[in-house]
This record gives sequence, C-alpha cells and structure tokens, in this order.
Amino acid sequence: MPNAPELSPAAGPEAAGPAVSPPPAAPPAAPFAPWIPIRSLSPRQRERIAAHLLALSERDRYLRFGYAAGDAQIQRYVDGLDFDRDEVFGVFNRRLQLIALAHLAYPPPGQPGPQAAEFGGSVVAAARGRGYGARLFEHAMLHARNRGLDTLFIHALSENTAMLRIARKAGARVERDGSESDAYLKLPHDTLASQVEQWVGDGAAEIDYRLKQHSRLVGSLIDAIGEVRSGIGKRPGQTAKD
Ligand SMILES: CC(C)(COP(=O)(O)OP(=O)(O)OC[C@H]1O[C@@H](n2cnc3c(N)ncnc32)[C@H](O)[C@@H]1OP(=O)(O)O)[C@@H](O)C(=O)NCCC(=O)NCCS
Repeated sequence: MPNAPELSPAAGPEAAGPAVSPPPAAPPAAPFAPWIPIRSLSPRQRERIAAHLLALSERDRYLRFGYAAGDAQIQRYVDGLDFDRDEVFGVFNRRLQLIALAHLAYPPPGQPGPQAAEFGGSVVAAARGRGYGARLFEHAMLHARNRGLDTLFIHALSENTAMLRIARKAGARVERDGSESDAYLKLPHDTLASQVEQWVGDGAAEIDYRLKQHSRLVGSLIDAIGEVRSGIGKRPGQTAKD
C-alpha cells in the first residue's frame, strides 16, 4: 500500500519543530489466517473423496484435471489413489462433507533426479475465496518438506488464475508454455520445528474431526429420542397425519 505522507507531516525531512522522537513504527499487520483443520485421508474416505470431486462443475473438473473429466474417469482416479505412496488430505465441514481436498503425489521410491512432489487440489464452489486453497497448498509444502523432497510442483492451465496466484504467493517460479503452466516451489530442508508443526497440526485436525463425528452422533441420538417421545405421546393406531 502506498504511504500517505500528507497524513504524517512530521515524518518528512521538511518537517519543522522541536526534535521529538517519533513513536516506534508499528510492525506490519500479519495477514489474518485462521487455523483450518486439514485432515489426512485414508482409503476409507474414498467415497467422500469421490463425492467431492463428482460435485465439481465441468469447468472446475477441467481446471483440476486439465480436461473435463467425466464421472467414470473421476471414479477411476479415486479408485487408483495410492494412499501408501501419496498423501490425500482435506477439510471437513460440520456435516463431515469434504469441502476442500488435495492430492500430494510423491515420486516413486528410488526414482533418480530431482525429488519433486506434485500438488492438485480443489475447493467446493461455495467455500472459495476463504483461504482454503492457500492453506491446502501450505499444508502440502510442509508435508513434502518433511518427507525430504526439495520441490513442490504444480501443473495448471495458464488461465487458472486462482491456483497460479496461490503458487506465486508461496514463492513458486511459474513457467508458462502457452495454455499450460508449470509452477516450481523450492522447499527448505525439514527441521525439528517443521516436524513438530506437522505433528501438532495433524493431531489437532484429528481431534476436530472426532468432535464433529461425536456431535453428529449426539444430534442423531437427540432426533431419535424426539421421534420415540412423539411416538409414545400418540394413541395406539394414531399416525403422523392424525
Ligand atoms: C484453485 C482453488 C483450489 C482455489 O481455492 P480457494 O479456496 O478459492 O483459494 P483461496 O481462497 O486460498 O484464494 C487464493 C488466491 O486466489 C485468488 N482467487 C480466488 N479465486 C480467484 C479467481 N477466480 N480469479 C482470480 N483470483 C482468484 C484469491 O483472491 C486469493 O488471492 P489473495 O490471497 O491474494 O486474496 C479453487 O478455485 C478450485 O477448486 N478451483 C477448481 C479446481 C482447480 O482449479 N484446482 C487447481 C488445479 S491444481
């Protein structure tokens, strides 16, 4: 943001008057980035992963996969996810629907050359613009770094402004080749702090998920009790219409 010198005349060299030392400048405000629980997913969540991807519009599928993947192609992709080699993680809402999802693909073990992990992600349309995409990307950076990889890579369509903006803001070098772009982000070495950050974040996300599961269970129990009570209050043979 440009400075507004007219609002702070004492800061200019032409300022006259007694030499009063100005108050120390306030540090720049940190961008507001609330914590988002991002949970690692397992093969048990394949159905939810498929539901998330199948709900993407044709345009979003095109941006996510580089072509307008059909339902069968998405299902094949989900069935083929290798949870032993790669990482899949996401954000659940209170109804335990996946509102944001990322796939971090690792190179096959023993592969020579630079060790790059590839990121692909999506956020449901209703939850966009709230930072989920950027947080998924940061999460991927942390996990790839802690696995000892030196580069995070994204292959995106050049028109995918949102994804390329996320990559650029994280410090990635973007190489455009016509309608397609590749973004490369150099990752620092892992440290004890980065390992602890992952461990704490993953643990907190797991607790958040269990709490959501629990509250859904309590909700259905309360509904069931309500139904039983209203059933008890009715005369024998009385139906809901009576
Ligand atoms: C790309 C995607 C994951 C971004 O998710 P998101 O949660 O909306 O992203 P964020 O809220 O973190 O926004 C990231 C940045 O992109 C900007 N942005 C979001 N949508 C944008 C758009 N349509 N055009 C331009 N910039 C956009 C945001 O303003 C933000 O920039 P800022 O931090 O400077 O404000 C989401 O748009 C999506 O799922 N798209 C369809 C699938 C896809 O393209 N996947 C990526 C392929 S790897």
